[in-house]
Amino acid sequence: MANISFQNIVKTYDNGVTVIPDLNLEIRDKEFIVLVGPSGCGKSTTLRMIAGLEDVSGGKLFIGGECVNDVPPKNRDIAMVFQNYALYPHMTVYKNMAFALELRKTPKDIIDQKVKNAARILELEQYLDRKPKALSGGQRQRVALGRAMVRDPAVFLLDEPLSNLDAKLRTEMRGQIAALHKRLQTTFVYVTHDQTEAMTMGDRIVVMKDGVIQQCDTPQKLYNAPCNLFVAGFIGSPQMNFIHAAVAKAGDSCDLLYAGSRIPVKQEAILPYAGREAIMGIRPEDIYIKGGFRGRKKPAVVSAHVDLAEMMGAELFLYLACDGQKLIARVPSGTDIQVGEDVELELDVQKIHVFDEETGKIICH
Ligand SMILES: Nc1ncnc2c1ncn2[C@@H]1O[C@H](COP(=O)(O)OP(=O)(O)O)[C@@H](O)[C@H]1O
Ligand SMILES: [Mg+2]
Repeated sequence: MANISFQNIVKTYDNGVTVIPDLNLEIRDKEFIVLVGPSGCGKSTTLRMIAGLEDVSGGKLFIGGECVNDVPPKNRDIAMVFQNYALYPHMTVYKNMAFALELRKTPKDIIDQKVKNAARILELEQYLDRKPKALSGGQRQRVALGRAMVRDPAVFLLDEPLSNLDAKLRTEMRGQIAALHKRLQTTFVYVTHDQTEAMTMGDRIVVMKDGVIQQCDTPQKLYNAPCNLFVAGFIGSPQMNFIHAAVAKAGDSCDLLYAGSRIPVKQEAILPYAGREAIMGIRPEDIYIKGGFRGRKKPAVVSAHVDLAEMMGAELFLYLACDGQKLIARVPSGTDIQVGEDVELELDVQKIHVFDEETGKIICH
């Protein structure tokens, strides 16, 4: 069992700066969990605390039910893969993978079996005699994974392992790492600043900002039900549109007033906002050129000016101005739209999120 439990974890570095004020997180056994957030938000610090490469300054950290606050890294049954691979340049691929086991005095035939097995899974068999400098970036990263694999750790920690690879290889390795997780059936904790990586790989995603967990959920929940403006803006590309709108009482519920249109919000949570402003969130794919919306519920119609159109292949990103606020819409690339023209837009009212302007917290979806 290798579940990981953070209980009121605090991390203050020697310079006195607290970068993790109070972290609580339960990572399940065999789960693929992704920590994502902007640079400097504390992802690596969190991972390094699991590895034991950083002490915790407060709280308790459990791995497999055991408090590991005072357990040194080598006794934690974890393996870590870094962004820069950290291979030994003077050793062959075989030796790089075998080395940790040799240090542990593992019998030679068992080492050989484990290294060859890892090499087979990672398709490195024909490179075992090469030195790292004679390998491509993707192959080096696979060696780093192999070196972790041969130790049969209970937990794999991966810190931005794909950041040094080009875009095509990154996509390929994403699939390979996900497949590796399925095959090994161990707990993976994966750190990235890339929301696409997070969304495609994680069973659950932990979105962090300034050392604080904003939301921990499945990719689908994060996308469809973000808990605040930060998560809503961080997950999804182009990002969700945020529009200031007045909230007006309408019978026993409220409407959002935007660009001459009334958008009904039939949720109790909106009632205290009547007479004030809120932020309406709508994703670019939930905005249609008039006539394009196919849903059952009547869309809100607003007029907008096309400032810019970006051809993305299958889609067109439209940058629009509507009632003095900017909007981005994702429409099919065949749509006949000219920059500079005025268009009518349909907003899917069932896909609207409403946020508190001051706190940024979700009011309702
Ligand atoms: N050894 C250290 N000493 C002092 N501050 C550090 C140290 N390592 C990281 N930090 C600071 O802690 C914060 C979080 O860093 P890090 O965990 O590396 O973030 P991330 O991996 O999300 O980019 C940053 O502000 C960083 O400058
Ligand atoms: Mg980092």
